[in-house]
Amino acid sequence: MQLTNTENLIDKYNVAGPRYTSYPTVPFWDLEHFDTQKWHQGLLSFGKKEIVENGLSLYIHLPYCESLCTFCACHKRITKNHSMEGSYIDALLAEWRMYLNILGVKPTIKEIHLGGGTPSFFSSDNLERLLTGILKDAHVSENQAFSFEGHPNNTTEEHLQTLYNLGFRRVSFGVQDYDPVVQKAIHRIQPFEAVENVTKLARAIGYTSVSHDLVFGLPFQKLESVRNTILKTLELKPERIAFYSYAHVPWIKGNGQRGFEDDDLPTAGEKRALYEVGLELFEQAGYAEVGMDHFALPGDELFVAMSEKKLHRNFMGYTTQSSRAMIGLGASSISDIWGAFAQNAKDIEAYKAKVFGGTLPVEKGHILTEKDLFVREQILNLMCHFETAWTDDQFGIIDSEELQLSLQEMETDGILELRPSGLVVLERAFVRNICMVFDQYLSKNMKTEKLFSQTI
Ligand SMILES: C[S@@+](CC[C@H](N)C(=O)[O-])C[C@H]1O[C@@H](n2cnc3c(N)ncnc32)[C@H](O)[C@@H]1O
Ligand code: SF4
Repeated sequence: MQLTNTENLIDKYNVAGPRYTSYPTVPFWDLEHFDTQKWHQGLLSFGKKEIVENGLSLYIHLPYCESLCTFCACHKRITKNHSMEGSYIDALLAEWRMYLNILGVKPTIKEIHLGGGTPSFFSSDNLERLLTGILKDAHVSENQAFSFEGHPNNTTEEHLQTLYNLGFRRVSFGVQDYDPVVQKAIHRIQPFEAVENVTKLARAIGYTSVSHDLVFGLPFQKLESVRNTILKTLELKPERIAFYSYAHVPWIKGNGQRGFEDDDLPTAGEKRALYEVGLELFEQAGYAEVGMDHFALPGDELFVAMSEKKLHRNFMGYTTQSSRAMIGLGASSISDIWGAFAQNAKDIEAYKAKVFGGTLPVEKGHILTEKDLFVREQILNLMCHFETAWTDDQFGIIDSEELQLSLQEMETDGILELRPSGLVVLERAFVRNICMVFDQYLSKNMKTEKLFSQTI
């Protein structure tokens, strides 16, 4: 039956599915065929030339937050006690030293992203010690992209200035929603003035790209309240806006403080309408949609990367750097060297114990097969450029009647257009569903409800 309207499509395609910051996705990593020795070999075979000439990306996970936001799906620990800052920084530096020993060269760093948790939980002195400790044994690429995530409630002028002095030019602030009812439900009370203040401070210091994170699909959100949050955001004209679809994953992050019930969440159709409000307002204000959940002003590097088809996606989300070596430092961080992934111990004590015991804190990983690499490329193309192409030979690796039928059905539903050796996404809302058809680890009747959030 041909589906003709968006509501029917949402009903049909709103299933639990990955966000594809990696392929294969973490629940399907082949742990049996991975060990730390193979990870070492992978790093070495990646090549010193690549690490020195093309450069590395570093993701550094800073897992502490002072207060729990009950919608949050990040790896974090909530505490008001700051006494562990120093030893966590020591662990990160010790882990970096292990990587330097394995690589055996002075690497070039192209990109650093401080994520969390809340990087601005740490004092600026501790962040400075961390970064000077890392940068002293590395070259910094000429057009480096250093960024950090700041919480508007605790990012200070000192944080912004210290990191600026170390080469940071991009900052993203978690905003989520300005509506008091929503803020109460998600346990995140954050006045507009706090966001305005840090945004203006960042600009005055010289940051060239300020990003605000908003989320749609949160409890009690209504068209009018989301419109209001967006209009307030537009008053500050951040260069980038992340407009994330709320990932409801209570089985991982369940907690007793939640100020909402599942019934308080918008339905899939309502959630889509919230997104449409955002799309319209952002486009009216001169922003362009970049990838699945970002908007950027023309001139911002993310926008430029999209226009030049250089957009890349990894565990940090969308990035402008196509570096194929990303080392993740810190508890739960994931490293990605294109042909292999490795994830550190998630538990902070287990992570520290390994590092201080002199071994890499890698807990699990995956070595990509030839088939994985082909599918990874297709999924990356779809998530970044909303189209992909292949040669018949390559496609033969995964070709099957089931795959052909699924693609044809999606074409009939109007969400993609098949080309002789490739496809173009017509309905971007369903890009994750299209990627799922290529995913070799998902089978049609598999139960994915407790693994992934809903695609819409
Ligand atoms: C590590 S936080 C940002 C920095 C800082 N901790 C803060 O909250 O301001 C990363 C961002 O991920 C997004 N996020 C977290 N949990 C999410 C979820 N369940 N669904 C969608 N986005 C989520 C939020 O927009 C959040 O700002
Ligand atoms: S949204 Fe940010 S501050 Fe809130 S719990 Fe998550 S990481 Fe921590």
